[in-house]
Amino acid sequence: MTDKSALPQHVGIIMDGNGRWAKKRGLARTEGHKRGAEVFRAISTYCSDIGIPFVTFYAFSTENWKRPQQEVDVIMDIFRDFLHEAEDRQQENAERGFRFHFIGDLTVLPEDIRGLIDFMEANNPERYGTTVNVAVNYGGRAELTHAAQQIAAQVQTGELKAQDITEATIASHLYTANQPDPDLIIRPSGEYRLSNFLTWQSAYAEFWFSDVLWPDFTTADFDRALADYARRSRRFGGV
Ligand code: IPE
Ligand code: IPE
Ligand code: MG
Repeated sequence: MTDKSALPQHVGIIMDGNGRWAKKRGLARTEGHKRGAEVFRAISTYCSDIGIPFVTFYAFSTENWKRPQQEVDVIMDIFRDFLHEAEDRQQENAERGFRFHFIGDLTVLPEDIRGLIDFMEANNPERYGTTVNVAVNYGGRAELTHAAQQIAAQVQTGELKAQDITEATIASHLYTANQPDPDLIIRPSGEYRLSNFLTWQSAYAEFWFSDVLWPDFTTADFDRALADYARRSRRFGGV
């Protein structure tokens, strides 16, 4: 494994390819989502094992509502199962040092799911090693629009002057406020795009793509991404 100083502080992962994984096996797309959820558990555990402080998983985008209702319902059911399981494993997760944070517009999610999310966030441990962001009904543009509305409201009340708005002001109104920007963004499934993931935060991220479909993604793939990342030269516009 790569040495600790070369580890990214924040990794973003676009969990893509569930549908194609299932199709290849003659299964319903939803079977791919179920398997994908297991890989999410395995990779988040691995991130805590190796000491990655922040990891963001893209689980459901603001655009994914376009899918057939039945598929959306199954994805919500998988999400529900994960939240119930996390509730049962609260002690274990806290001992592991997991802190769960949900990013996206959660206001439109089913009431029971919102309740479970609130419970989980309220019961996060005070001391934690790995923050796991789960992006649900997340879209980078929606996030920036939401930030703009909040900032504009502060200007309207006179709390803030327009000329005092800085990049830090905007960052502090994003769902990832107080977190470092992603150093590395991983997208499996052979697609080479961000699909509205961490639009603002990815400005200087390193990208890593793979043809592996998310349900087949392993810790060995993750290690490969980390090893490649460790060899990159990040200049941030400097020399
Ligand atoms: C990612 O897998 C999961 C979600 C977007 C919810 P897909 O369902 O997009 O799988 P493909 O891309 O169709 O194979
Ligand atoms: C991106 O995957 C969203 C998630 C993985 C949650 P999509 O499958 O929705 O992205 P596109 O449609 O291929 O761009
Ligand atoms: Mg996809």
